[in-house]
Amino acid sequence: MKVLLLGAGGREHALAWKLAQSPRLSKLLCGPGNPGTARLGTNVPVKADAPREVAALARQEQVELVVVGPEAPLVAGVADALAAEGIPCFGPVEAAARLEGSKAFAKEVMAEAGVPTADFQVFTDVPSAEAYAVAQGRIVVKADGLAAGKGVIVAPDAEAARAAVRAVGAMGTAGQRMVLEELLEGEEVSVIALCDGERYVLLPPAQDHKRVGEGDTGPNTGGMGAYCPAPFLTPEALAQVGERVIAPMLAVMRRRGAPFKGALYAGLMLTRSGPKVLEFNARFGDPETQVLMLQLGEDLLPLLEACARGRLEPRALALEPGASVGVVLAAEGYPDTPRRGQRIEGLDAVPAGATAFLAGVEAKEGRLITAGGRVLTVCARGKDLVEARDRAYAAISGIRFEGMHFRRDIGARGLRATP
Ligand code: AMP
Ligand code: GLY
Repeated sequence: MKVLLLGAGGREHALAWKLAQSPRLSKLLCGPGNPGTARLGTNVPVKADAPREVAALARQEQVELVVVGPEAPLVAGVADALAAEGIPCFGPVEAAARLEGSKAFAKEVMAEAGVPTADFQVFTDVPSAEAYAVAQGRIVVKADGLAAGKGVIVAPDAEAARAAVRAVGAMGTAGQRMVLEELLEGEEVSVIALCDGERYVLLPPAQDHKRVGEGDTGPNTGGMGAYCPAPFLTPEALAQVGERVIAPMLAVMRRRGAPFKGALYAGLMLTRSGPKVLEFNARFGDPETQVLMLQLGEDLLPLLEACARGRLEPRALALEPGASVGVVLAAEGYPDTPRRGQRIEGLDAVPAGATAFLAGVEAKEGRLITAGGRVLTVCARGKDLVEARDRAYAAISGIRFEGMHFRRDIGARGLRATP
């Protein structure tokens, strides 16, 4: 099967790595891809979030399945353009991708589906939002539109709440509407369901590390590392998330005429009164996907194809034993203003058993240089979380670029919870 994979990050390198192992893959095109995907398939220069350009490329190359990595192409309507051409696409149409594109819309659907989430209010002007936030004290302020994981501020007191509303209000279009939300406490877990519009299968629960600093300090990022399976959700509790969160969301989206095909990512807070949804994403998580692909014990391609064609068979997925850990190596200045252009060294020396997925990386004159905030995710699998973590950090010890920083505590919460 000829596949076009859209995106250029670590998630896409990991998806390409897994797809490349499929005996059913005949050719993999990555648009635009990165130097990591170039080793596994053919990179093609396409603007991934330009629906007509993508559809024209897919038609011309006689692609049989398009897999969409990032949210921007989905929100731009790439899946709609492909549907019009009759080309199967793993990734929701624009109307379904709104679950990620608009937090206010996601809340509306959750209410209709009876899915547990934080209490919230939507505001369109800063002064009313500020008055409400200060009155509440502890609060979470979220920009309504897409903000690359950076449009959320957790404010523990009234002063922080005031500053957060002002900061989000000043963010431009994404900040024009904001959602003010009850501050929830508990372990955070990412549950990703592969969906065919009606049915789903669940990937094992993963835990991301959103804050830039060790011990979960500093500003939010796109994610500084992940591991799976996260021990906080037992297999039974995971199945319940499927029944109480994923299934009702799929049912409501179908009823609304926008069936969800693709990866439905539920960001959950495991509160004392049960799991509550913090956010939905309409795609695979990054860096969760990097560890999930190590942990998935079966061919990814037929699963994605079944979702795209609306023929998924609900069942438990085959998984590798043990656990996987992935550590993001970030550029100096990330998440604010990452510095680019630093030469990356030591990637050839990554030991067998570990994998470095490339993200913000560019090839120039035969060398790899940094070209984004999150540069690499170094991943390893082990018989348990300890071994996976030790292998991942051992692999990192040989990699260098100027200003490189990473968290040394990826997996620590999971280790504390494991007897
Ligand atoms: P989101 O993009 O909505 O997932 O928010 C990014 C991060 O902010 C989440 O991963 C949480 O760490 C935090 N967060 C979001 N909403 C809440 C909430 N209601 N209570 C506590 N933390 C939250
Ligand atoms: N790792 C969080 C996300 O992909 O949104």
